[in-house]
Parts: sequence; structure tokens; C-alpha cells
Amino acid sequence: MACTLYNYRQLILLSLTVTLLWKSTVSVNRDNFKTCDQSGFCKRHRAMQSGQSPYVLLLDSLQVSPTSLSVQLLNTKNNVRLLLQLYGLERNTARVKINELEPLKPRYEIPVGDALVGEPKQQGIKVLDQSSESITVGLENNKILLSAKPFRIDVISGDEPILSINAQGLLKFEHLRKKEEAKVEEPPAGPDQGEENKDENSEGEKDEAKEADQSENKEEEEPMMWEETFKSFTDSKPNGPTSVGVDVSFPGFEHVYGIPEHADTMALKSTKDTDPYRLFNLDVFEYELYNPMALYGSVPLMLAHNEKNTVGIYWNNAAETWIDIRSNVADKNFFSKMADLVKGSTDMPQTDTHWFSEAGVIDIFIVMGPTPNDVFQQYTKLTGTQELPPLFGISYHQCRWNYNDQDDVKNVDSTMDEYDIPFDVIWLDIEHTDGKRYFTWDSHKFPNSVEMIENVAAKGRKMVTIVDPHLKRDDNFKVYADCKSKDMTVKTKEGGEYEGWCWPGSSSWPDFTNPEVRKWWSSKFHYDEYSGSTKNLHIWNDMNEPSVFNGPEITFHKDVVHMGGFENRDLHNMYGFYVQQATSEGILERSKNQQRPFVLTRAFFAGSQRFGAVWTGDNMGEWSHLKVSNPMLLSLNLAGITFSGADVGGFFRNPDNELITRWYQAGAFQPFFRAHAHLDTKRREPYLLPQENMLIIRNAIRTRYSFLPYWYTLFYKAYKEGIPVMRPLWVEYPSDKDTFNMDDQYLVGSSLLVKPITDQGGTGTTVYFPGKNHVWYDIESLQKYNGGQSAYINAPLAKIPVFQRGGSIIPRKIRVRRSSGLMHNDPFTLVICLDSKGEALGELYTDDYHSNQHKTGQYIHRTFSFKNSVLQGSNADPNGQYKSKEWIEKIIVIGYMTQPKSIQLTVDGRVSNLDGTYDNTHKVLTVRKPAVNVAQDFIIHVV
Ligand code: GLC
Repeated sequence: MACTLYNYRQLILLSLTVTLLWKSTVSVNRDNFKTCDQSGFCKRHRAMQSGQSPYVLLLDSLQVSPTSLSVQLLNTKNNVRLLLQLYGLERNTARVKINELEPLKPRYEIPVGDALVGEPKQQGIKVLDQSSESITVGLENNKILLSAKPFRIDVISGDEPILSINAQGLLKFEHLRKKEEAKVEEPPAGPDQGEENKDENSEGEKDEAKEADQSENKEEEEPMMWEETFKSFTDSKPNGPTSVGVDVSFPGFEHVYGIPEHADTMALKSTKDTDPYRLFNLDVFEYELYNPMALYGSVPLMLAHNEKNTVGIYWNNAAETWIDIRSNVADKNFFSKMADLVKGSTDMPQTDTHWFSEAGVIDIFIVMGPTPNDVFQQYTKLTGTQELPPLFGISYHQCRWNYNDQDDVKNVDSTMDEYDIPFDVIWLDIEHTDGKRYFTWDSHKFPNSVEMIENVAAKGRKMVTIVDPHLKRDDNFKVYADCKSKDMTVKTKEGGEYEGWCWPGSSSWPDFTNPEVRKWWSSKFHYDEYSGSTKNLHIWNDMNEPSVFNGPEITFHKDVVHMGGFENRDLHNMYGFYVQQATSEGILERSKNQQRPFVLTRAFFAGSQRFGAVWTGDNMGEWSHLKVSNPMLLSLNLAGITFSGADVGGFFRNPDNELITRWYQAGAFQPFFRAHAHLDTKRREPYLLPQENMLIIRNAIRTRYSFLPYWYTLFYKAYKEGIPVMRPLWVEYPSDKDTFNMDDQYLVGSSLLVKPITDQGGTGTTVYFPGKNHVWYDIESLQKYNGGQSAYINAPLAKIPVFQRGGSIIPRKIRVRRSSGLMHNDPFTLVICLDSKGEALGELYTDDYHSNQHKTGQYIHRTFSFKNSVLQGSNADPNGQYKSKEWIEKIIVIGYMTQPKSIQLTVDGRVSNLDGTYDNTHKVLTVRKPAVNVAQDFIIHVV
């Protein structure tokens, strides 16, 4: 007996150890998430064979207007007709929309003004050629050829084929149908359809002819069309099969990018041996790296780039979407026949992609570049640009789950000061609330939140609280009771209030797809509604995929019902977008539209850039997660979401001192810079680390602060023109093939090259310096490196390999204070790195750093140029009228070859002499105190 007991205890211990071991070595529980095989529509689309497209264009039905054409498409297998519309849009953009000609009921389309910022502006098209087989349309410098049989679309830019739709013949459009019809039509099981189908078809006689006829009609008869089961969840699919898909090929392109969010390389990989890349907003616990599984957000934008062209497609569909990618060789025969375009004997590479969504319509925007910046501008014309963040938003954020109480907040705030570590925002996670009822405070821990926030704000800082979209089902909780009484929650398919589990336990979710609900939610941020909040409190939206602990794949059931009777299936990927939109509008409203909101979101969609920042969710405190943060953020940046970051230090687990130090160094050069940690992790505020690490981290944060004027200017450019802040090298060096796969180093703007150390024990790294005629300067040692080659850079723990491009002028603020809020009026230092001709250019944007008055001209945009030993500061934009106290304190010219005799400043016709020093060893000229206001034109002659 004793022996048995002993064994029993041993067993328990053993199983505990195994569990712990498993916890520390295995990450995501893949079983919680569907593979393509477990998803009916994914399986159906993936099973399609190329070259069997049943679709033909009915050119007789063609109708042409000055900016668009429409033509019917016939499915020759089931006689269902589709309507294809082609629109010419401004800026080298075309739109191809395919819907059912006569759907049983309207299929879901994302309302204009949501993902698309507005109705895209149309542009004239011209029919260049028309025959019984095809029609060719001209749009700016492009030709779009629509072939009737088999149906395909080919886009030629200049004289290069850049994109084809349905060239593989994978167009599949599951028309809406009634269940009864399908039953009548139900054919016998095909040879490859397994047991389920045999059962379904066991009744009745089999008519041979009908069988043959209907075996072609496969889409009518496959399993998982009218009901689908995953684990213990059954998806009722009241509308049956509704999916849409088509292939898009990029002839001449070997590299495609984008479609975040995946924890993967920046250059997308062939999915031949894996599942397709999946876009379905999900809360994935301890996500795995380098695979195509879905994560928290989705931007269905793909870019293709080669030495000559950059193009992109935006797949405007909010349903679950999968994308297959294959490397191939272009069908030169087709292109040569078409327009004698492909010359030479070498194979032309091609990337074939195949997109399929569970519902909605096919709505493809083709952005034709031809340069990377053109593509960014074209895409952000459609979905909007990054909203200009307030300066504190791009400074350093101190977060953890949780800062426990007011004393804790006070201590962190003052200890950071004691150690002279700047920070701008301290965050409160879910524990600050009264029982996970958002918009409330735990009155024991936070008895006087206003005082707490205002104490922090006295040092120019802000606070952020978390507000998740799930509402605790407690009738005494005001927000929930209000939502319930207004009948604003998401509904079950039977029409009742949908209930699921999240942090507060039993919860309901407001239907954010409804503009009225969003308005209601926005009002909850008004000062009189959110008691204990002040103008210095901003917001964090989490769990907005949404995360439902007991839901299928940890999210909503697909058949829950939103406004207009649409299912979550139709619009799942937009839910989180709407949460952030409503929150951001609420924060804006509470200040009567005066102050810029700051709202961080975990779930996102195309266009989320208009509402704030995004972070990459629950990463791990491991080297691999530090490393993957760069490609993940680059993909987000390419897809319009430039204000993005990863939890510094890693959310789960305890990073060692080296890892956390390296992570701060990387974070200091990523757009959104926030340290965050799980509730169970050891406290890790920078001052708790050994002094060596603390000092290095402090230096990294201070370096970030010193570069804030540059970051801010870049964010302005992102806001104005859609150009991302964090850029892959190929964006600036588009013809340099060596950079096409590079995602461990990147550019901040065009002038800073960054290669963070992401390997344990790393003491150096090989950096590739792009640009054959360029030179680069180490920002600390000022050592010079020639472009077009690689060099090994020593990088002991204290070193961040960052280089400024020769030919650039970067505005900085060298005097770093406790927060960026205290630096608003501080003077600038212009750091000029000369190129091989002794020249440089730069710009600076500034305003009040927090309000919306920049939208009515209260800003300053300056350019600086250095040429022939003359530095000139001029106005870049006469519409900017802001009166700033900022001035220019110092000018540092790096790479200046001779000791100057005198330095003369000319302002308003008045000439004065300036002091300067020259360091002959490093060839650095420092000019002191020109003391011109930042808005003033000036000329400095170095003689
Ligand atoms: C989620 C978030 C994480 C947060 C936690 C508690 O896991 O991703 O950042 O700390 O919820 O709110």
C-alpha cells in the first residue's frame, strides 16, 4: 500500500515536472487554432487545380463609362452570373470588383469610410482595343487587358507586365443559395470524398447522368458547407458556403511582402509545404515564430518588388482570409503573344498568390507604383495615413501588468527620476479596475486617480489605462447596464445577447460595427462619464480580436450576429478596428477635438493607422522574439501601420540582463517604444537591473529622446504622405537586390541605418551599408563607412550599431530631460553628415506636439541644405504659421575637411560672426549658438 502511495505521489510529481517542462519549451497550443484542412472553405479553395476556370467574360454585356466598365462573368458549370466592375482610380490605381449579379441578398461589403477612408476618387479610363475575345483599357501609363475565355486580367505598366488576375484559373465564387436547393441537388459521393459524403448521399437512387453532370459541379456538394465542427464547436453556417477567391500573379517579381500580422520573415515565403498565410484576428497564446498562423491583426495588403517596379494589391475583405504563395516562372508565351513584352531567353520569375475569404465580395485594389513611395502613397490614399501622434506617444512608455496601486505608480515615477531615466507614460493594466469593469477604478488601490494622474502630469508625463471591449455582465456595472438597455450588444444567431468569457468572467460585447454603438462607446470617455479620468489619461484597447476564452479559436462564434444581420464571419477582422476607432474618437471628443488622442490597439485592420498605435501582442522574453520584432514591424510599416512596436523585454518569462538590455537598444529605434511584462514576471523597471545594464538602458532611452525631433518629422511625413517611418532598405535602394530579403537591419527614415544586436552573447555584427556612392557615419564614434559593402562592427553590450547617412541633416535635442513634455521648448542641434561631395539635406517639422491645431496651419516645416560650405535654413511650407520658442543651438558638421577661418551668420540681412571649433582628427566642425528661431530663414557661410 505504502509502495503504491509512494508511486502515486511520484507520478503526480513526474506529471507536474513534465507539465512545467512542457510549459517552458512548448509555446502555442496549436490545437486551439484551425489548420486549412480544418476549415471548409480553405480546403475547397486550396483543392482547386489551375487551368480549370469555369468562368468566361460575356463581352456582350460590356458597359463602359468614362471611369469604369462593367461586364458579366458566367460560371459555365452552374450558369451563375457574376458582375465584374473595373474602375480607374487616381494615382495609378485600379479597382476590380466581382460580386454576384443577382445575389439572394446583399453580400457584406465594408462600409466606405471605414477601412477605405472615403470613396476612392475615380479617374478616366480609355478603351484601347476591343474584340470578341478581349478588351484592353488604358489607365494613365498602364494597360489592363481583360480576356474572355478563359477569363483573366493582365496589367501592363509602361511596357512591363506586373500583375495578372485569374491567370491560374482559381476564381471561385460561392454564390448564395438556399439550403433546400442544395439538398435537392445533393449528388453521390465522389471517389475522394470520404465517409461523410457517403452518409449524406445514402438516400435515393443514383442517376448516372446527373452524377456525371454534378461531379463537375463540385462546389455544390462538398462537406462542411452547411455546418462545420471544430473541436467542440459547431458553426451553424445558416447561409451555407459563401466564400470567394482568386489568384493574383506578379510576373517578374520574386519578392512579395506585407499581409501582416504574422510572426515571420519580412519577405513572404512559399506556402507550398505549409498552410497558407492566414488573416483572422486571434488571441494566440505564446505564439510560434516563422509560420503563417494568424495573429491579432490583419492587413490584406501585399507588395511585390523588383529592381524596376513596386506594385501592390489591397484585398478589401474583412472575413477570414488565407493566402497561398508560390514561386514560379512567368508564362512568357502569354505575355509575348499579348504585346511582345518579354524579351530574352532567361526565365522570368513570377510569384503566384491565391487569395480566398470566407464571405464578402472580391474587391481588389491594384496600386501600380512604380516606386515604393508611390505604392505607399497610393495605398494610404485609399485607407488613410498614420494619424500624427502626440510627441509623448513616440517617447518611452513604462508598462507592466500591473502597477499595483497609487504608491507603486508614484514610486516608479520618482525612481525613474532618481536614476535619471526619461519616460513619458506610465500604464495601468486590467488590475486597476473594480473587478475588470473598465472605466472604473479599484477604490482601495486607486482612491484618487485624478491626483495620481496629475502628479505624473506635473513632470510632463501622461498615464494610460486599459479599456477592453468585453463588458462584465453585471447589471450594477453602469456601462454594461446601459449597453444592455440600449440593446447594443452582439447577438447570438437566435437573437439573444451573446455571452462569453473573458477577464471579468461572463461578458458581453458591444456591437462596434454599428456606428451608433461606436458613438455611445466614444461618449463613455467623456470626463463626466469616465470618472477619475483627466486630459492626461489616454487609452489602451486590448483583447479586441475579440478574445473570448471559451469561444472557438478563442474568439466569437462565426455565426454571431452584428448590425444589419451580418455574421461575424462576414466582418470578423474589422471588429478590433472599430473598437480602436470608437475609443480614439471618444478621446478626441472629450477635448472638443482639440487634443490628439493616443490609443494603442492589439487587433487591427487596413486603415487602423488612422486611430493610433499597434503592438505585436504577447511575445516572449526570448532572443528569438527580439529578433522577429524587426521583420514583424517592417511588415506592419509596409502595410501602412507605421506606429507599431513590440513589448520591450518580452511579455512572458523573465529575460536575463543581457537580453533586456539588447531589447531596449532595439526598442529605442522602433516606432512605438514600450516596456511591458506579464503579471507573473519579476519586476524589471530599468533601475532594478544591475548598474551596468541600467546605465546602458538609460543611454538607449536618452538616445531615443535626443532623436525625437527626427522621429517626429518622420511621423509628420507618414501622416502627410503615407511614407513609413521604419523602412526596409529596398524602399530607399529599390534596385539593390541584396537588400530584398534583409530584415535584420533597416532604416529609420532615409537617414538612419539600424542593426540591433539580437543574438545572445553578440559582440559585433556585419552591417551592410547600402548605396554605392554613399558614406555612413557611426552616430557615436563618427567612424565613416563606405556604401555598397559590408563591414564588421564591434558591438559590445553598450553599443547599438546605428549610422547616419552622409548627405543628411538630422535635427536632434541633445539636452535630454525627464520627459519629452519638458523638452517642448528646448533648442535643436543640427547634425550634418556630409556626403562625398560635401553636401547634405534635411528637414524638420515642429508644432505644439499635442494639439490638433497643426491641422489649421499651426506648424513649422523647415528644410536645411548644406552645399559649398553654406548652410541654409528655409521654409518648406508657407502654410505653416506656428510661433515656436524653439531655436537652433548648435550645428555639428561631420566630414568637413578643412579648418575654417570664420563662420558668418546672415539673418534678415544682418551678418554676424559665430564661434566654432574644429576637430581635425574626426573632421568635425561645431558651430555654436547661431541662436536663430526655428522658424527663421538663415544662411551660415563657413569660410
Ligand atoms: C493580454 C495583453 C497583455 C495584457 C494582458 C492583461 O494578454 O496582450 O498585454 O497585459 O492581456 O490585460
